[in-house]
Order: sequence, then C-alpha cells, then structure tokens
Amino acid sequence: MTITPDGIVSIKHLTSMALLSNDEVLGLIKRAQDFKYQRIKPVFNRQFFVANLFFENSTRTHKSFEVAEKKLGLDVIEFEASTSSVKKGETLYDTVLTMSAIGVDVCVIRHTDEDYYQELVDSRTIQAAIVNGGDGSGQHPSQSLLDLMTIYEEFGTFDGLKIMIAGDITHSRVAKSNMQMLKRLGAAIYFTGPESWYADEFDVYGQYVGLDDMIDSVDVLMLLRVQHERHESGETFSKEAYHAQYGLTHARYAQMKASAIIMHPAPVNRGVEIASDLVEAPKSRIIAQMTNGMFMRMAILEAILNGKA
Ligand code: NCD
Repeated sequence: MTITPDGIVSIKHLTSMALLSNDEVLGLIKRAQDFKYQRIKPVFNRQFFVANLFFENSTRTHKSFEVAEKKLGLDVIEFEASTSSVKKGETLYDTVLTMSAIGVDVCVIRHTDEDYYQELVDSRTIQAAIVNGGDGSGQHPSQSLLDLMTIYEEFGTFDGLKIMIAGDITHSRVAKSNMQMLKRLGAAIYFTGPESWYADEFDVYGQYVGLDDMIDSVDVLMLLRVQHERHESGETFSKEAYHAQYGLTHARYAQMKASAIIMHPAPVNRGVEIASDLVEAPKSRIIAQMTNGMFMRMAILEAILNGKA
C-alpha cells in the first residue's frame, strides 16, 4: 500500500483496517469527498471487471459497491451463490480462483468465515484483488472507512473526540474495525451495552462504562445492531427490555450534547437499538452514512485499481 505526496492512495487488497496507515485513511476520505462534492470520475487506462461475491445477506454494502462500480465505469459481473457452483460444493478458494482465471480484476467478498481472505491473498495463482465486505465477526473495513468519513465530515478531526460504541460488540465486525482505527486516530473510545456482549480484549482500545453515565458528554454515539443471527442460546432480551436499558430512548436523546451525532451501520432494529422516529432525527447521521458509503467505495475501488493499472 502506498500514498503519494499529493495523496493518491494505491492498495493491493482491502482486508483489514490494521493494514491501512492513518495517512491512507485520510487520503481515502479526501478522495471520497472529491467524488461526493466535485462529482469527478477517474479515467482508467483499460477495462476492469469486478465481481461481488456475497455469501451473507447484505443490502447497503452490496448495492453501494454496485453503484460505486457503475459510477466508476467498471464492468460488474453478477454472482449469486445460490445459483453458482457453490451449490455443487465448490469452495470459496476455487470460486475466486475461477473469477481470477477468467479475468475478473477485483472480487468484493462477504463471507461468514472470519479471516476467509487470508488464503486468497496468500495464493500465488489468484491475481484478483480482494476487498473484504465483511468476514463473520472479524472485520468490515469499507464500513469503518465510511464511518470515519462521516465523523470527519462532522468534526474535521478524530483527535480528542469522545466516541461511545454501544451494544452487541463481541459479534460486531463494524465495532472491531472502528475501535482499532479510531483509537489510532486519537479518539477516546467508550464501550457500553450488555456485559455478556463485551470482552476484556477490548480494554486496550477503550473503557467500558454505563450508558447513562456518559450519554451527556459523548461526541459520537455509535449504535450497533443486535446480531440475532450470530447468537447462541442464552443471550436474549425482549425488545422493550433492551431498548430501555441499552437503547437510544427519547430521554437519552434529549441529554446528548447539541453538537453530538448518532451513528448506526444499519440495518436498524427500530425500537430496539434506537427509538424508531430517532432514525431520521436531527442528530442522526444514519442516512449520511449510507450516502457516504457509496462515495467511499468509489475511493476504495479506485485505490485498488491504481495498484493494478
Ligand atoms: C453491518 C454488517 O453487515 O456487518 N451492516 C452493514 O454492512 N451496513 C452491520 C450489521 O449487519 O449489523
């Protein structure tokens, strides 16, 4: 991965936030803002093919990558796991090997297995670049980058911001990508939510606190979806109980600083993590996150193709 003095980022794969330097993150944010505000379109020196391989459900990540690809003028190869040779038992490795062999330049992949990407980027045969659209409870770098862009657009810095990550932290790849990067960028991280969804390993990134102790002083409240599909038995809350104890209620909203913002990667469980009508409240940046995500994914793809051109 490189960044030139004039801020052009070039990356081989995007698998984990740990592989990006702070300058590369800021370079990608600036480039996503170029796309957003200047409506520029890069010209590539050849045709590029991109395949979106989604083995887990997705609306925002999948479709915003697709819009980004089309805006960049790339050729998008449709892929449905349910009608592909995956149904005949083909492995992810062999699927990506096939994509690469037929000339696909970039594979955007979401998969339930944590670290699924390692054998793909280590392969000497696979030439396609890998963009991780989420690996189990591992990493979600494109979501983290769009979250960082949204925070940067609001505050113009990360240094000294108080950011509270709330909810189902252990199962959230969004939380993991964000806590690592936000700490490195100088933010103060606070965690809150059910103790059973918190792990001591997060202590190196921030402090576990009570929601009501900090709600009036945070700059960013980053809510996480309750990831029912990743829960084993035993950790159930009723919607109402979760909302009352750990959710953003109207009363908590009223206590937040005037300058504070609310984020959520979505999909939102309305009435659980957040009162339904607060999704579009003035402090909410949930819709801005979705919009920024498309521009950030343009910047990510361009950086990958800069590395290939
Ligand atoms: C997130 C994900 O898939 O990890 N969604 C997304 O990409 N916007 C968060 C979630 O599903 O809770």
